[in-house]
Amino acid sequence: MSLIGKLVRLRPFEPEEADTVWRWHNDPDVTRWLEESYPEPLAAIRKRWADRPANCFQRTVFGIETRAESRLIGVVVLRDATPEHGRAELDIYIGEKDCWNGGYGTDAMRVMCRYGFDFMRLHAIELSVVDENERARHVYRKVGFVEEGRLREAFRRDGRWHDVYVMSLLEGELVDG
Ligand SMILES: CC(C)(COP(=O)(O)OP(=O)(O)OC[C@H]1O[C@@H](n2cnc3c(N)ncnc32)[C@H](O)[C@@H]1OP(=O)(O)O)[C@@H](O)C(=O)NCCC(=O)NCCS
Repeated sequence: MSLIGKLVRLRPFEPEEADTVWRWHNDPDVTRWLEESYPEPLAAIRKRWADRPANCFQRTVFGIETRAESRLIGVVVLRDATPEHGRAELDIYIGEKDCWNGGYGTDAMRVMCRYGFDFMRLHAIELSVVDENERARHVYRKVGFVEEGRLREAFRRDGRWHDVYVMSLLEGELVDG
């Protein structure tokens, strides 16, 4: 099963890469539209990363690496997969801001969705995205995700509530570039 796209390669994380992920988690530009968790000390994320279970059907986490420079730039996850329904949830972010708008997110989405449909034999992939996150919504639509519903005032940031779209992509709907 190929995890190689046009611009990126997806691969498991190494424990020592916890520091890079911690830096991304502490960048407010990166986390602006991501679900917020309580701040975590670097030592805690290092331990969590070292103890992390191997990727499996229920939860697969890949680092996004550029093909050209083998540079780690982000994370893509398929989680909460259920074999009974053939569904899973996808999360993605590019933590290296100088790589935004470089085509990497779109390519990583395509590779991960192909992996979900072809290898994991999923029937549908779902995700949630905040209304104002126009770039992410554009990318998701571009690869074939459709909006299924809108959760009113489901996300709070900077003292304001924002609506959240639930989107999904069915097997056979992935739009290749
Ligand atoms: C969202 C994200 C994953 C997209 O990855 P990326 O590598 O930056 O995206 P790409 O370069 O592949 O594509 C960006 C597209 O959005 C478009 N775009 C950029 N800003 C936009 C905006 N404000 N409104 C609409 N479209 C926009 C670009 O023109 C490009 O589309 P095109 O290729 O059709 O021209 C990445 O920007 C990111 O991680 N952002 C921060 C975290 C985040 O929001 N994660 C998603 C949470 S749901």
